[in-house]
Amino acid sequence: MAEFTLPKNSVLTKGLTFKAPEGAKNIRRFEVYRWDPDTGENPRIDSYELDMDHCGPMVLDAILKIKNEVDSTLTFRRSCREGVCGSCAMNINGKNTLACTKAIDFHPGAIRIFPLPHLPVIKDLVPDMSNFFAQYASIKPWIETQTPPPADSERLQGKKDREKLDGLYDCILCACCSTSCPSYWWNSERYLGPAVLLQAYRWLVDSRDENTGERLDDLEDPFKLYRCHTIMNCTDTCPKDLNPAKAIAEIKKLLVQRKLG
Ligand code: SF4
Ligand code: SF4
Ligand code: FES
Repeated sequence: MAEFTLPKNSVLTKGLTFKAPEGAKNIRRFEVYRWDPDTGENPRIDSYELDMDHCGPMVLDAILKIKNEVDSTLTFRRSCREGVCGSCAMNINGKNTLACTKAIDFHPGAIRIFPLPHLPVIKDLVPDMSNFFAQYASIKPWIETQTPPPADSERLQGKKDREKLDGLYDCILCACCSTSCPSYWWNSERYLGPAVLLQAYRWLVDSRDENTGERLDDLEDPFKLYRCHTIMNCTDTCPKDLNPAKAIAEIKKLLVQRKLG
């Protein structure tokens, strides 16, 4: 396995190396970004050798094994371990994905694990998602109505209208797409980014929502929506196989259709 080499001008330093237990025959190396704001030190890359004969198959299994058996200071988020909660999103060998659904065997060499790119780091693999979730709240991710509900039932939705939400409601807000988007890297304060725009579209096409006009007014902004340049990193990286770039294109289409009357 080739050693991880850092670029000459990198602020990262080579960190600690934890060797595999004696007698281990099936060894894989995990190189993990470490940063603890309390130490005042620069970030470093720690290297952990694990015995794969005693480790589960997913990258999340490996970092849980590190935390439980090798180095309890390693910090990361996880909850469901089923690709449902979105909390274990991180950058694995250069691609944003979910540690719990990424098999270690996807790559034969060392596995390199970094936090999601271009977000402030709180500690190790834990990024600060405050701006991302504030942007999510800004698109009002709930049903908005003006008319009263039917007296004798809920607000119902037909099968065809319900199908329009497929590929949208399934988004788990992991932020893999937004943090892979160059436009979002440079303008994350003002551009909403692919994840939040996919969610915005989810409410625009919900047949029960009655605030479509206001939602479109809010999005018609040179930064919130039009910073998307169709680079498609978002769709390429989504671990749920969703297509945020298409959702963004559909919002732009709705705005054009509205203009044309
Ligand atoms: S298609 Fe748009 S949102 Fe997706 S990565 Fe490209 S610029 Fe970002
Ligand atoms: S669209 Fe995909 S990558 Fe983006 S937040 Fe949703 S699930 Fe994650
Ligand atoms: S732990 Fe929930 S998506 Fe990975």
